[in-house]
Amino acid sequence: MAINRIGVLTSGGDCAGLNAVIRAVTRRAILKYGWQVYGVNDGSHGLFDRPPRFQELTLPDFTGTVLRMGGTILGSVNSGDPFDFPMPDGTRQDRSAEIIDGYAQLGLDALIAIGGDGSLAILRELAQQGDWNLVGIPKTIDNDVDMTENAVGYVTAVDVATEALDRLQPTAASHNRVMILEVMGRDHGHIAINAGIAGGADVILIPEIPFDLDRIKSKFEDVLSEEGRSFALVIVAEGVRPIGETIDKNIGQYLGQHIAEMTGAETRVTVLGHTQRGRTPSPRDRLFASAFGIHAVDLVAEGKFDRMVAWSSRDCIDVPLADVVGHSRAVDPDGSIVRTARGLGICLGD
Ligand code: F6P
Repeated sequence: MAINRIGVLTSGGDCAGLNAVIRAVTRRAILKYGWQVYGVNDGSHGLFDRPPRFQELTLPDFTGTVLRMGGTILGSVNSGDPFDFPMPDGTRQDRSAEIIDGYAQLGLDALIAIGGDGSLAILRELAQQGDWNLVGIPKTIDNDVDMTENAVGYVTAVDVATEALDRLQPTAASHNRVMILEVMGRDHGHIAINAGIAGGADVILIPEIPFDLDRIKSKFEDVLSEEGRSFALVIVAEGVRPIGETIDKNIGQYLGQHIAEMTGAETRVTVLGHTQRGRTPSPRDRLFASAFGIHAVDLVAEGKFDRMVAWSSRDCIDVPLADVVGHSRAVDPDGSIVRTARGLGICLGD
């Protein structure tokens, strides 16, 4: 089919590198194929409104600074599932037909959606119902989109978390404290284990490996007796939960309290939060973003839809969206990153 106009949108939580993707999509679509590019505002919500909200993207929109900017120039949303949309009166409605119609109103021939697993699942459903030509690009600091080694935004988040450990270590050492850093990652521990190794953590806790407080206690005893150190660094993923216990506080605060009680050490907790999302993208994220954007546009040109671009073994490839949605990619407890942590003598709580 002839393509004249494509849409591009960002969906779900923002992260570093989204603007670099939008730039790559726009440049490839215009420079190689001469298409018009519409950036849909605020994820699929831009397609709700009448007229639908969008901005035409042209080459002068990307004169240099956008590539370096965190966030997304298009806006994004991470709530409001159109199939179960929360209405102002408290009821929930299926508003998918309105979004599907928004695509038609904009006269789009294809849509490139930059999203995490949740967003891509919803957009795929809309595409199937509305007969859209959809290509997905994975992004999320959590790096839990299946079928790709990297999602845009993840590397930058690991950089931020590692730098936080670098900054906490001097205080830990100067004051003989246990410094606990809680990082994001939703249900998975990719950020925690990667930043923990890079940042020299003594203890790394991730949702994929259940922890036992006694193991942490004996790790601190080892640190003291074998390494002669009276300070330690702990990194914990936000999704970690104690077994058989419900907690009414952040996992970082829970650990801070228990570690202080168990060891008598002075502890401090830092919750890194959204600082992991907003930074200028790392060079690596800009490279993933650029490769993904180009490849996604080329898929549209080839008429290959219902696919997601992905990174695998140093290459930009594409995979069926059907294989991506409905599940997420966890840290492999037997994989090389976990083996590396164990090899360094890092306590993983088990
Ligand atoms: O999925 C990205 C993410 O940053 C998670 O790591 C985190 O749990 C969540 O989004 C935070 O969402 P919000 O921005 O709505 O607080």
